[in-house]
Amino acid sequence: MYRILNKRKLAPEVHEYVIEAPEIARAARPGQFVVLRLHERGERIPLTIADADPETGGVTIVVQEVGKTTREMGDKFGKGDCILDFVGPLGKPSEIENFGTVICIGGGLGIAPVYPITRALKDAGNTVLGIIGARTEDLLFYIDKMEKVCDELIVTTDDGSAGRKGFTSDPLTEILAAGRKVDRVVAIGPAVMMRACADATRPFGVPTVVSLNSIMIDGTGMCGGCRVEVGGETKFACVDGPEFDGHKVNFDLLLSRQRFYVEEERCALERYLKEQQGAVDGQA
Ligand SMILES: Cc1cc2nc3c(=O)[nH]c(=O)nc-3n(C[C@H](O)[C@H](O)[C@H](O)COP(=O)(O)OP(=O)(O)OC[C@H]3O[C@@H](n4cnc5c(N)ncnc54)[C@H](O)[C@@H]3O)c2cc1C
Ligand code: FES
Repeated sequence: MYRILNKRKLAPEVHEYVIEAPEIARAARPGQFVVLRLHERGERIPLTIADADPETGGVTIVVQEVGKTTREMGDKFGKGDCILDFVGPLGKPSEIENFGTVICIGGGLGIAPVYPITRALKDAGNTVLGIIGARTEDLLFYIDKMEKVCDELIVTTDDGSAGRKGFTSDPLTEILAAGRKVDRVVAIGPAVMMRACADATRPFGVPTVVSLNSIMIDGTGMCGGCRVEVGGETKFACVDGPEFDGHKVNFDLLLSRQRFYVEEERCALERYLKEQQGAVDGQA
């Protein structure tokens, strides 16, 4: 069992948890993830390691409540509670070296996974420009953390409620069009955002790394659930990635496979919400 050492709300329906998992905390590298199962009847879900502290044994994850399992975690799991399975670190770590000037982009929940990569790239001696964005101001988080590890940070919101109005790919395009020398871009967020960033950098030939959030089950290369296409070849995001060359990813296939179980996911959430309502009515 893995104890929750801390839980805090970062945004509506987004919580940060620190889980006591000393072995994972010691081994974790930026870019890697865990697979957790809340309880015996729970499903396995992958979550990126947003931070790890080998001294305290704490592993930080940030969870957006989008469906049955993440919702259940947000509703029922708090400080002091235990999670049944917490497996990791999984996936290949990010490539960290002194590339020169890098732009690290986090969109929505992607801000959490991009943070440890940004920090590691800064520590490796890069000049780091950060771009983080969300739909609205209240959905932004980790601005202070990102400011500390970036030489420059640009914040965007779709509706202009904070920072610049627009998408994260807009300032990226402007920076490149202005002729600034950029050696690498790391973009993490919704598939459409990562595709827009890869499209923006392609004409300039800037290497662009994206982190693919395909549906994962075992997380160890056994089930094939996370199959993606990169450069015309089939890859398993859990063991070959999750980071890949954004210019080679088949984003259409990724998007269609992400929607593969939408009906089952909707049923599972409805069943969970009904059970919760039943429990509330029973108490009344
Ligand atoms: C490598 C990786 C890292 C991730 N890191 C984070 C993170 O740090 N924080 C975060 O909030 N989310 C992260 N996700 C997404 C997270 O796994 C899903 O939001 C979660 O599984 C949804 O489960 P659910 O039962 O709550 O929702 P569901 O209703 O079951 O699913 C909602 C949507 O989430 C996606 N999803 C569902 N099941 C899975 C699954 N087993 N694997 C991957 N995606 C799934 C699908 O697109 C689906 O349509 C990551 C995904 C991957 C692959
Ligand atoms: S999650 Fe099963 S092969 Fe990748």
